Formats: sequence, structure tokens, C-alpha cells
Amino acid sequence: MSRFTNKNIVITGGTTGIGFAAARQFIKEGAKVVVTGRDPKKTAEAAKELGESALGIVADITKPGDLEALFDQIRDSFRGIDVLFANAGIAKLGAVADTSTELFDDVIGTNFRGTYFTIQKALPLLRDGGAIVFTTSWFDEAGAAGTSVVSASKAALRNLTRTLASELVDRNIRVNAVSPGVIETPLFGKLGLAEADVQALGETLLSQIPVKRFGKAEEVATAVAFLASDDASYITGVELPVDGGLTQL
Ligand SMILES: NC(=O)c1ccc[n+]([C@@H]2O[C@H](COP(=O)([O-])OP(=O)(O)OC[C@H]3O[C@@H](n4cnc5c(N)ncnc54)[C@H](OP(=O)(O)O)[C@@H]3O)[C@@H](O)[C@H]2O)c1
Repeated sequence: MSRFTNKNIVITGGTTGIGFAAARQFIKEGAKVVVTGRDPKKTAEAAKELGESALGIVADITKPGDLEALFDQIRDSFRGIDVLFANAGIAKLGAVADTSTELFDDVIGTNFRGTYFTIQKALPLLRDGGAIVFTTSWFDEAGAAGTSVVSASKAALRNLTRTLASELVDRNIRVNAVSPGVIETPLFGKLGLAEADVQALGETLLSQIPVKRFGKAEEVATAVAFLASDDASYITGVELPVDGGLTQL
């Protein structure tokens, strides 16, 4: 079954981790995919690995000029977009007492502001009947110490999932979110923590996960594909946890 044959799919943050796994899944099911990232080398490598159904475009979602250029190029190459997977995001940790304005602006500026204006720029190209999927996080349900800014950024996206779903209902564009638990991706190397601290964090998190293992990017990708597909035709405004029971049990 090819649910995405002749569909054009744009994945922000599609060069590694969850976004890259989703690109592979969509291509396996017949789609043409644009993957974006900030790093030109990683973007080129990802597009090459994904093959001829993929186009890699370097675009930083925090830069309005990059977003403008991204959607201009997509308009020229693709015309319309059937699915937007707004997945690009970062995580930086710190107690409220120690959080700098730079960290705050970086995380909110990427995860919420960057994603918000990605959507705004994409809206004219999104086809009626299409779908948007956000990547939120198990953090937006939890009160884990040290995660205040990243958790708030994802909670903002969780609400945007609902408000945008309302605004797009007349165009039959469904808007949903996938909420990953602890997933093995390069993200953990980018937290700004020493390796020993990442290890300790991993052990603490593992002890809290009901199914006793971390998730795989591919396990999130299949949930994204479900939400983006006609299999989810009566589902809009939801956040689907893919977290081994972390937020549910
Ligand atoms: N892994 C987890 O446990 C977990 C849990 C909950 C939520 N999430 C969320 O899942 C999403 C994907 O993360 P991941 O785990 O797959 O991590 P990842 O491998 O680090 O992927 C992040 C992707 O986002 C891109 N990106 C970051 N900042 C960007 C920006 N300003 N503009 C454009 N692209 C940008 C990265 O590209 P560059 O490398 O070029 O910057 C990369 O392609 C994120 O939104 C993250 O918050 C992950």
C-alpha cells in the first residue's frame, strides 16, 4: 500500500533523527520529500542517502529570509505541499535560576517562533485536504526539573496544534502533533551536557519508562505517517504520544 504516491511532503529538521526517519518512511510509501536543516553538509548527505525522491534545502527556521527562500524554492519545484512535518527543534537544559536570556531566546526562537513562522509561510502552498504534523515532546506533559524553557516551547506548539486545526478546518487541512518520549537520536549529543551527565540522564530516564527501553526514530516516523495519511482522516487537533507509556502509565 502506498499512501503517499504523488504527494509532496516537506520536513523541517529532516536531515537527522526523527525527521530523517520520517523522510525515509514517506519515500517508502511513494512520496516526494523536501528535507531541511541548518548544516549544509548534513543536508546534502541526507538528501543523497534518501535518493532521487528527496531534495535537501538548507534553511534555518529562525531566519525569516531563509524561510522566504525555502518556500520560494518549494513553490518553483513542487507547486503545492500535501504534508508539512514541522519537526525542526532543539533542546537546551537549565534550572530557571540559571537560565540566560540567550538560552531562552534560542529555544523559544527555534521551537516556537521558528515553527510558527514556518507554518505561516507554508500556508499559501498547502493544498486543501492536506495535513500538518508538529513534533512536540513528553516534556509538555511533565514537570521535569531543568526543562522549563524547552517544555514551554513544546507546550506552545501543543496549543498551536489546536488553534491551527480550528483555523484550517474549512480547508479540510488536519493539524496534529506527535509527542516523542525518549528517542535515540543525535539530539542527546547537543544538550550542552558533558558525556558523563548525558549517560546519567539516560539512566535516570530509562528507569522511568514503563516499557524499559528508549524509542527508535522509526517508531515515531510511523506515527507521523499515520497522522499525515488518510488513515487519520477523522483525527485533528490531537497530540499522539509515542513514548513507551512514559506520560500515560
Ligand atoms: N530525541 C528525543 O528524545 C526527542 C524527544 C521529544 C521531542 N523531540 C523533538 O523531536 C524533534 C527532532 O529531534 P531529534 O531527536 O530527531 O534530534 P536531531 O537529530 O538533533 O534533529 C533535529 C533536526 O532539526 C534541525 N534543526 C535544528 N534547529 C534548526 C533550525 N533552527 N532550523 C532548521 N533546522 C533545525 C537539525 O538540523 P541541523 O543539525 O542542521 O541543525 C536536525 O535536522 C525536535 O523538535 C525535538 O525537540 C525529540
